[in-house]
Order: sequence, then C-alpha cells, then structure tokens
Amino acid sequence: MERLQKVIANLGYCSRRNAEKLIKAGKVAVNGETVFELGIKVSKKDVIEVEGIILDRNYNYEYYLLNKPRGVITAVCDDRGRKTVVDLVPTSARIYPVGRLDYDTTGVLLLTNDGVLANGLMHPSSNIDKVYIAKVEGILTGYDVKRLRSGVMIDGYRTSKCHVKVKSVDKKKERCIVEIVIHEGRNHQVKKMIESVGKKVIKLKRERYAILDVSGLKAGDYRKLTNKEIAILYSMISQKEN
Ligand code: URA
Repeated sequence: MERLQKVIANLGYCSRRNAEKLIKAGKVAVNGETVFELGIKVSKKDVIEVEGIILDRNYNYEYYLLNKPRGVITAVCDDRGRKTVVDLVPTSARIYPVGRLDYDTTGVLLLTNDGVLANGLMHPSSNIDKVYIAKVEGILTGYDVKRLRSGVMIDGYRTSKCHVKVKSVDKKKERCIVEIVIHEGRNHQVKKMIESVGKKVIKLKRERYAILDVSGLKAGDYRKLTNKEIAILYSMISQKEN
C-alpha cells in the first residue's frame, strides 16, 4: 500500500506536490469515490482517476534521450501551437521532459513517463550535473569567473558554487566559450548568471546531463536509453522523495 499522492506522482501524472493540490481540490477519485484526504493509501487493485483520467498502473516506462534543436519548446503541448520536444519523439506513451531547456537552447534532454526517476533527478538533493557550453558576447575576466564560481545573485537568490571554465577566447570578435557545470535548474539560470557579470550568452548548449550526452545524435534526433543507463540514473537519485 502506498500513499495516493506518491502513486500519482510515480505514475508520471504530475509532481507529488501537484498531486496533493489535485486531491485537496477534489479532482482525484479512488474506485469511483472522490477523495480529499492526503494520507489515504492505495493498493495495486485500486482504480485511480485524476481529473477524469483513469491512470494505467501497468504501463511500461519509456526513456528517451533527445538532442534538442533550437526553436522547439520544452513542454508537452503549447497553447500557441509551437513544436514541442514531445512532438520530436513519436510514441503513444505520455512522456514528458525532465527539466527544461529554453526555446533557443540545444542539447541533452531526457524524456520519460517514469515519475520516480524524473522527480528524483529533478530533486535538488540528487545534485545532478548539468554541463553547459555557452558562447558569450564579451570576454569573461578572471574576476567574473571567480564570482560565477562562488555564486552570484539572480532574481533575489544566490546561485550555488559551481564549476566555470573559459575554454577559448576570440579577442577579435570579443567573445569567449565557457563551460559551466551547475546542479540547480532555475529558469534561464546560465543566461542570468552570465548577465550578472555584465556579459551576454549568444548560444547555449547542454552538453551533458548526469551521465548522458548527445554523441552520435544530430540536432532533433533521439534514442532510447539503455537498461544500463537507466540503472545508473536510478543509482544517482536521492531516494528521499520516493
Ligand atoms: N540555463 C539557461 O539560461 N537556459 C537553459 O536553457 C538552460 C540553462
């Protein structure tokens, strides 16, 4: 027997916190009866309905690694009709992106319908490496790099310590290429970090996410994760949330 909100999250419907909100709002039914209590436990035999959708508790999980191209939004659907990352991976499973990349950011994006793995990877306590390569307008000084490494203020919070390395400098064009490894995943984090030291990201690519990189995949291409990769990702997540 497991708590209802945990089962809903683990089935990939939404996060555990959102599942709690849906329960409180009377949008969840178990065996046809609306429930409002958060503590209720359910077994495999119970039929769970969320917002009118019966959750299939026996489906197979799917895991995809996409090399996200520019000009695609990281969402399941878009009210403005733009192409989404889910459109690039043809499957009937209800997969969704793990975290998000901006419209113009390229690179590694994991998609799955496995809520345990997705929520585990996104939880800050799992400390997953996200490696970005940024093309920057302006040349980062040693002082800029020091500040970025030790944490800068963006949107009223201080970013955590991170790895920053200037990989190359083009003095003529006044640009540089920077590698940044962060564990957080705030909105536009890398761009805002670079802005905080007075420079601008003009191209951004996520080169690695945990153990995953896009070698062998052209922009827009995807592949299934191997069982070994799935097992390694599981070994990397904090089990506290699950
Ligand atoms: N940081 C950003 O600024 N954008 C992304 O897409 C990812 C990280």
